[in-house]
Amino acid sequence: MGVLGASGYAGRELCALLVRHPGTELAFACANEQRGATARFGDRSVTFLAHDDAPLDRAQLVFSALPHGASKRWVDAAHAAGAKVVDLSADLRPGGARDAALVPYGLTELARDEVRAASVVANPGCYATAVLLALLPLLVRGLIAPGGCVSVAAASGVTGAGITPRQDLMFAEVSGDYRPYALGNTHRHLAEMRAVMRALDCDADLVFTPHLLPVARGILATITVPLAEPLANPLDLWRAHYASEPFVEITDHVPALRDVVHRNIARIAAHAAAGVRHPTVIVVAAIDNLVKGAAGQAIQNGNLLAGLDEAMGLPA
Ligand SMILES: NC(=O)c1ccc[n+]([C@@H]2O[C@H](COP(=O)([O-])OP(=O)(O)OC[C@H]3O[C@@H](n4cnc5c(N)ncnc54)[C@H](OP(=O)(O)O)[C@@H]3O)[C@@H](O)[C@H]2O)c1
Repeated sequence: MGVLGASGYAGRELCALLVRHPGTELAFACANEQRGATARFGDRSVTFLAHDDAPLDRAQLVFSALPHGASKRWVDAAHAAGAKVVDLSADLRPGGARDAALVPYGLTELARDEVRAASVVANPGCYATAVLLALLPLLVRGLIAPGGCVSVAAASGVTGAGITPRQDLMFAEVSGDYRPYALGNTHRHLAEMRAVMRALDCDADLVFTPHLLPVARGILATITVPLAEPLANPLDLWRAHYASEPFVEITDHVPALRDVVHRNIARIAAHAAAGVRHPTVIVVAAIDNLVKGAAGQAIQNGNLLAGLDEAMGLPA
């Protein structure tokens, strides 16, 4: 397997998981500015190749952890060289480019069969993974009130913003602080979340407000959902929906980042909202943005593309 964009946060997580993966070997890892630099993953030392020198024809499966805008060209090149590809960028996700419609959206718990049959997969965004996994049991049953508004307040650790240094992400700026960003319902992940909601015939608005959390990794999303009808015991619905899923945990405790970091797990709780006139459920989902929200889910999809056990090499 090969990794493009291997020196970034998602790429490094991919390399760290792939060197321990029992069913595969890391054939190459590429970087841009850091080409020629060496990094250690477990007991393996890896020297980053320039992308132009990537032996794309030597990998059956290539993961692209390049920034959006830079990724699609390399996805096409890897595919043309004969590899199957998982693209972690937004370039091929629904709600974006027109040819994205040709590529399955790799929210594995929704699209397992399409992923298995594909040669290129668009891995979901980290926030979108948390929000859509939380909503799926309602979406597939048409339980969200038509014309209502699904409201999401979510927070991410700073690795969600990538490794490029930025003043507003420096330790002294984020430490001890907590603030929203992309105010006004403008975050990039809204497009893919809305596209999935539409594809599942959900006629509700989506309002999404992300926040920056002063931790390295993890996402926690708190989602308020107007219901078409009351749910007697919300947790039963989530438990039934995800009963056979290896990487979704339903809990009657409070989901927390410490339950999910370094794991390929979405941990979800659901509670009926008290004291409101219309039936409303509050769903909370926690994931590690670099694992279930990026590299772990990408390997889950890669395992399916390669005909391997979906859970192989993944930290549950
Ligand atoms: N971080 C997350 O939590 C997360 C979650 C889900 C999905 N993703 C997606 O995964 C992708 C990578 O995210 P990231 O956070 O890991 O980004 P990152 O830390 O900024 O890393 C980007 C990687 O791409 C390389 N690169 C940058 N510009 C390039 C260019 N023009 N041509 C070739 N290589 C280039 C960088 O190499 P050099 O540093 O050597 O230049 C680095 O290896 C993005 O598309 C992102 O949306 C990220």
